[in-house]
Amino acid sequence: MKRILLSLALGVAAFTTQAQAPLTPTMGWSSWNNYRIHIDHDIICKQADAMVESGMKDVGYQFVNIDDGYFGGRMEDGTLFCDSTKFPHGMKAVADHIHKHGLKAGIYSEAGANTCGSIWDNDKKGIGVGLWNHEQMDCDLFFNLWGYDFLKVDWCGGKTQALDEEIRYSEIIEHVRATRKGIIFNICRWEFPGTWAIPIADSWRISGDIGPTFKSISHIIEKNAYLAAYAGPGHYNDMDMLQIGRGMSKIEDEAHFTMWCMMASPLMAGNDLDAMSEETRVILTNEEVIAINQDKAGIQAERVKNENGVQLWVKPLGDRMSRTRAVAVFNTNENSVNYTIDWNKVGLKGDIKARDLWKHEDLADNIKSVEVPGHGVVVLKVSADGIVIPEVYEAEYGFVNGLKKKDWGTVKSDGNASGKMKVVNIGKYADNWIEFPHVYVAKNGNYDLTISIETVEGMTLTINGELIKDISSLRKDGTLKVDLKKGFNKIRINHSAQTFSLDYIKVK
Ligand code: GLA
Repeated sequence: MKRILLSLALGVAAFTTQAQAPLTPTMGWSSWNNYRIHIDHDIICKQADAMVESGMKDVGYQFVNIDDGYFGGRMEDGTLFCDSTKFPHGMKAVADHIHKHGLKAGIYSEAGANTCGSIWDNDKKGIGVGLWNHEQMDCDLFFNLWGYDFLKVDWCGGKTQALDEEIRYSEIIEHVRATRKGIIFNICRWEFPGTWAIPIADSWRISGDIGPTFKSISHIIEKNAYLAAYAGPGHYNDMDMLQIGRGMSKIEDEAHFTMWCMMASPLMAGNDLDAMSEETRVILTNEEVIAINQDKAGIQAERVKNENGVQLWVKPLGDRMSRTRAVAVFNTNENSVNYTIDWNKVGLKGDIKARDLWKHEDLADNIKSVEVPGHGVVVLKVSADGIVIPEVYEAEYGFVNGLKKKDWGTVKSDGNASGKMKVVNIGKYADNWIEFPHVYVAKNGNYDLTISIETVEGMTLTINGELIKDISSLRKDGTLKVDLKKGFNKIRINHSAQTFSLDYIKVK
């Protein structure tokens, strides 16, 4: 009874301070990359101290997250306890230390019974300490008794137990949400989990574990390239913890940081903050680049050009049709290139004003090209007089509802497709649709809509929630005549009888 009362009292206190979860990507530090399971009280507290002293807190870093390795085991009644050699003052003491700095504290668990550390790091104490059969008990402990504000839930045990990830994560998240409001929840499932995760989780991993190499960084960028439709305020594709200051060159570290910011990933530093070089500190605290990541619109950059290993990425700032955009040129080659920016592809026209966010300097008006070092990036904040209203919407940037369900809509490369990518296997099932949620037109009116599919018979088209009944009669000269309203329109396409591939849609 006493324990219940205590947990209620703490719960109320927590409620008042932790009511609102931030809607921009989470920023902080996590213990895994640098320490794996070899963490302890002093290490974590020192990281919190360093987050303040380094100026990281001032530029937005907030969370100090304990990853795998703190577990001690479970008592007979199931109560979880920590490793008392590593954490002699208990886990609440660590959270208290973090909170004293005005920071937030993160903790880690596992969807199944056994942690990843118990498998990959031979951590025997990681056996039986996952959330399996202890969901509510552990939530009370983490959030009400210990006072943590963030939970990452891993999947090694869940995978071994062959659990259904949607069902399992959904029930865990229900316990978390019922225990305390405002907890940031991260799904650690090593690939995009499925569209079910979007309304219930704050972020989800989209790849296997990161390493401190340019190859690993490029691999994760590629994995995330066509997941932009699933990110938005309060829910983000997590590209994994940062490897800044852990062995790559300065140029590579800057490219890594830039792309995580462009792609609206959570920014969790993974280096030892207490012993970082000035160079690393300067990269991690570049406020102009961080501002791109923390833009309130929460839009993930799209790659609008990808030729000869040089990629052009665009992230609209403020809103999707904004005249202010972050533009990154990412050079995956070893040699530097002089790159001419295609402003039409960026979607901007008229007078162009650009600022280089690593050099911290304004560039000459109407800049045409930039010099990009090998494995490096140039990132600009650009403002223009006008925008180019898009006509083509690539299917690979559409919202594929069944993405990741077996045999349902999947993004696939195709040399003949307009963006060299298309979506295959859409249709046949009611939920296996593709949607273009931001088809923009400047005026109300009747427009030509081209949909790059062959068989119209059986196709279902929904515009702004309204099902267009007679598609065949709308089709004239290969296009459909449809009414669109000024601003953003939602166009959803499906087929009741068969699966189909889609390359793009076009609105004129
Ligand atoms: C998995 C996760 C990592 C880390 C370890 C801990 O590999 O992907 O981020 O949490 O488990 O064991």
